[in-house]
Formats: sequence, C-alpha cells, structure tokens
Amino acid sequence: MTTKPSNAPWADEPFQLIATPSKRMDGSLAHVYCASEMAHSHNTLIRGLNAILQQAPYVPIVTDEQFKAQDVENLLFYVQSWVKMVHHHHSVEESFMFPEIERFAGRPGLMDGPKHQHTLFHGGMERFLAYASATNPEEYQWEGAGSMKEMIDSFSKHLTDHLYSEIDIFLGMGDLDGVGLRKTWDKAENIAKQTGNLAMLHDVFPTVLGCADKTYEGGHDFPPLPWVLPYLIKYWFAAGNGAWRFNPCDWWGQPQPLEFGPSSSG
Ligand SMILES: [Fe+2]
Repeated sequence: MTTKPSNAPWADEPFQLIATPSKRMDGSLAHVYCASEMAHSHNTLIRGLNAILQQAPYVPIVTDEQFKAQDVENLLFYVQSWVKMVHHHHSVEESFMFPEIERFAGRPGLMDGPKHQHTLFHGGMERFLAYASATNPEEYQWEGAGSMKEMIDSFSKHLTDHLYSEIDIFLGMGDLDGVGLRKTWDKAENIAKQTGNLAMLHDVFPTVLGCADKTYEGGHDFPPLPWVLPYLIKYWFAAGNGAWRFNPCDWWGQPQPLEFGPSSSG
C-alpha cells in the first residue's frame, strides 16, 4: 500500500496514515462516504505534519556551517501554512458541519467529543503558529527548550488521536438518515471552498495540493478542486516560494522524495 517515492523516510510516518473506510466497506452508504472523505482530509493534514517532522531536523540552523536563512524562512512559512490548513479544516467543522449534523440528527451534543478534542490541541497549535510567524531564521531552533520540536510535541499526539477517532464517529452514524447526512456533508464541503479567501491561494491551497497523495491505496480523487487549480498554483500563486520544497507531493498529488533528509546536504 505504500506510495513512498524512494527508500528514504517519507510523509507516511512517524504518524500513521488512516486506511480509507470505503476500501473495506460500502462507500455508497452515506456514513461510510463521509468517514472516507474525512479520512482523505485527515491524511492530508497528517502528511503535512509528517513532512515537517521528517525534514525540519535536517534544515541547518544558524550554528551549522551550511546554514541558509532562506531555508529556515521557507520552513517557517511552510509550518504557518500547515497550521492554517488545519485551522481551516476545524473551523468549517465547528462553525457549520458539527452543529448542522447535530441539528439534522436531532441529537444535541452528538459532536461534543470531537469538539472537546479540538480544545486539547488548539492552544499548542496557536503557540506554534505564533513561533513560526515571529521567529527570525537566526533565532530558530529545532531542538531544546522553547524550540519548534518541543512545540510540536506539545500538541501532535492530541491532534493525531483526534484525527483518527473522528473517522470512527462518522462510521458510527449508520443509523442516521443517509440522504440527510450526505446533504449536510455536501453543504459543508461547499462552505469549506467558499470560505477559502484569496490569501489562502498563497498558503493553504498549495499545502493541500502538496499533501494530498492521489496515488494512496491505489488511487483517490481528492481533493475535489477544479482541474485548473494546480496550474494556477504552480505558475502563479506558489511561484517563487521555496516553502513548497517541503511538500511531499507535487502539485498533481504525485509523491516526491523529501527535499531535506538524512542524505540531503541541506
Ligand atoms: Fe475532521
């Protein structure tokens, strides 16, 4: 099932990717469909986190001979974009999808579990974003007290536990009306796209495209975005920004070897 482009470490670890439910269950059932689409989204978030964890240790810091301020600047921009992508996902869930599912199911509190889990990693991710936004390449530290690794470690387990368990929440919705559930899902997906603003073309969308592996499990058509978007991103919105070297896939969702790793010179 692995789609690693080489033997070198890739974005399918250290945090495990989610097996898509529709591969083993009937994907025409609304709850299986929703759980599977959610798995695609969550795997996109997980690959981004893994890409940071795999590459950041190999980006030279100021005391290293091969230090290049540009590399660190690019890494910090990539980190900010990844956090914004995660925030966007959760804000659509909290502001629309979860309340709408509770309303349609007639079960207030149905989504309290995932909502509570959001609070467990939210603060840590805010601190992480603040660090990546305010730190100069010369001050940047991967390891040690107050470092980026310490910040990631403070929330990554809560975040990934949540990303795994939310799939089971959807798989447990088999008793809800399938048509209503699917309608709610489709509306949420539209809202996710509509609430995307122009600024997101410079950060969130390039991260989504570069972390959505279209070859995973033999092939998936995710994300559901216009075919022209990869071209616009590549030749316009992402052009000239070295941060996208950190993406584990190209603009068309094909896995590519990580730029920084044990064998890279940095
Ligand atoms: Fe989610």
